[in-house]
Amino acid sequence: MEEKAILDIRDLHVWFRVYEGVSRVLDGVSLYVRGGEHVGLVGETGCGKTVAMKTAMGILRSPPALFPQGQVLLAGRDVLKAAPIELLRMKGKTISMIFQDPLSALNPVFTVGQQIFDVIRFGHRWIRDDGALTKTKVRGIAMEALTSVQLPDPRRILSLYPLELSGGMRQRVLIAMALVNRPRFLIADEPGSALDVTIQAQILSLLKSLVKEAGIAVLLITHDLGVVRETVERVYIMYAGRVVEEGQTVEIFDDPKHPYTQGLLSSVPRLTGEALAEGIPGTLSDYTEAPSGCRFHPRCPQAMEKCAQQKPPMVKVSTKQHVACYLYHGGGG
Ligand SMILES: Nc1ncnc2c1ncn2[C@@H]1O[C@H](COP(=O)(O)OP(=O)(O)OP(=O)(O)O)[C@@H](O)[C@H]1O
Ligand code: SF4
Ligand SMILES: [Mg+2]
Repeated sequence: MEEKAILDIRDLHVWFRVYEGVSRVLDGVSLYVRGGEHVGLVGETGCGKTVAMKTAMGILRSPPALFPQGQVLLAGRDVLKAAPIELLRMKGKTISMIFQDPLSALNPVFTVGQQIFDVIRFGHRWIRDDGALTKTKVRGIAMEALTSVQLPDPRRILSLYPLELSGGMRQRVLIAMALVNRPRFLIADEPGSALDVTIQAQILSLLKSLVKEAGIAVLLITHDLGVVRETVERVYIMYAGRVVEEGQTVEIFDDPKHPYTQGLLSSVPRLTGEALAEGIPGTLSDYTEAPSGCRFHPRCPQAMEKCAQQKPPMVKVSTKQHVACYLYHGGGG
């Protein structure tokens, strides 16, 4: 099944060296996205979503990051083992990412034009190898890309600096840049979450139609369960550096199995720290002293003795739903 996966993360562990010792953030994350598939990654703040995706993009700096175990296969090649130049090629051909913070993802001292031209030239050099592009051609591709994200007056936008754009416009520029080299796979980390709700909804709907049209696979990271329900076919629920449940979106919403997922769905839809506290008391633990066994046990209303002792492996609970919880191990754990 994972053979056709465009991204296939297997048992990934990511640690950070910090002042207090070693912060064991990702603890055996496995997830995959197949060609053309739209998948969601959900979990409260700090659970490791961005760390996982930065690892997949090969952009997590090491040190402080350590990768003691696991594989990250991008179109079948291991990102963690690739030499920098090979990684550039692999990424250029396959993957693009929209980052969580649109302002910091754009360089304030270069115009939008300079930044998008660089991306186009990079794509040409590393992906298609079809010789140098003329300035006019590069400009034409850039204008087309800005038009495709419904930015009015693209010629003027090319000459502006990021700070001269509104938040919504910056997010559109980032989407244009992410898609201009026609990736097969896009990681979208909370697109538009810094914007007001109406603009965020417009951005998401634009993104959805663009990726659908181009047949691009997407991993959408979000706090918003409403967005998940409307946008993705399959979803991974993460808690404290682990995937705790995975399945078809419809199934997970109709019949969540993991106590954490059940808590999420009974909280208000936006998983801000406060909102989550209503559904699930307590907070994520410090990763330098992560709880033993099931990392959710200190907050779990159904915790049993063995939950604190051993990490629960993922088990299949229906054809397409998997859960890491002793409640579903034969004999109730
Ligand atoms: N460079 C780093 N050094 C040390 N710890 C880090 C580093 N980068 C991330 N972390 C830690 O890893 C954990 C997971 O962070 P991550 O940014 O992946 O969370 P997230 O799930 O994306 O949260 P959010 O929803 O707020 O974006 C956090 O505890 C964070 O402090
Ligand atoms: S394994 Fe135990 S502590 Fe963890 S979610 Fe299941 S019941 Fe709760
Ligand atoms: Mg994040």
